[in-house]
Amino acid sequence: MAILPIHQLGQPILREVAKPITTVDDELRQLIADMFETMDAALGVGLAANQVGIARRVAVIEADEQRFVMINPILLEATGKDSADEGCLSIPDLHGEVTRPERILLEAMDADGATFRLELDGLAARAVQHEIDHLDGVLFIDHLSALKRQLMVKRWKKEHRDDGPTWLPAPEESEAAP
Ligand code: NI
Repeated sequence: MAILPIHQLGQPILREVAKPITTVDDELRQLIADMFETMDAALGVGLAANQVGIARRVAVIEADEQRFVMINPILLEATGKDSADEGCLSIPDLHGEVTRPERILLEAMDADGATFRLELDGLAARAVQHEIDHLDGVLFIDHLSALKRQLMVKRWKKEHRDDGPTWLPAPEESEAAP
């Protein structure tokens, strides 16, 4: 197992739409094991493959005592509405209140390639939606108001001036964003 470097805001891979997984093999299982180790080391509640530089549809979750991998995840249902403070391992030190559906029905494949369904709410539902967003090249800041997003990006640029990465927009430029 290995702890993988986590890509940060401004790196193009975070804005890529990840490609579906077609084969669940030992190579993928190795990636999943490394992603769990990386998430644990960073004390995260979720990690998507984009964040470790691989634009494939796989993410790991550990929230509300639920720990699982989701391969090619989709939401079959999403109901209710809930607001909570959200952060991201790829955008350290910044956080903001994001409104999302409160309850979800997730369908995905596990590490054996078997399809499973999970009904989730609370933090686990939020983490799953946050990670599926990552697989679509979307970040939590895209859900904030334009003003809040601008302030955050400004602060990010100021604090990370020497680190290289700069701001990049969401895949289909966020005209639809609130
Ligand atoms: Ni994130």
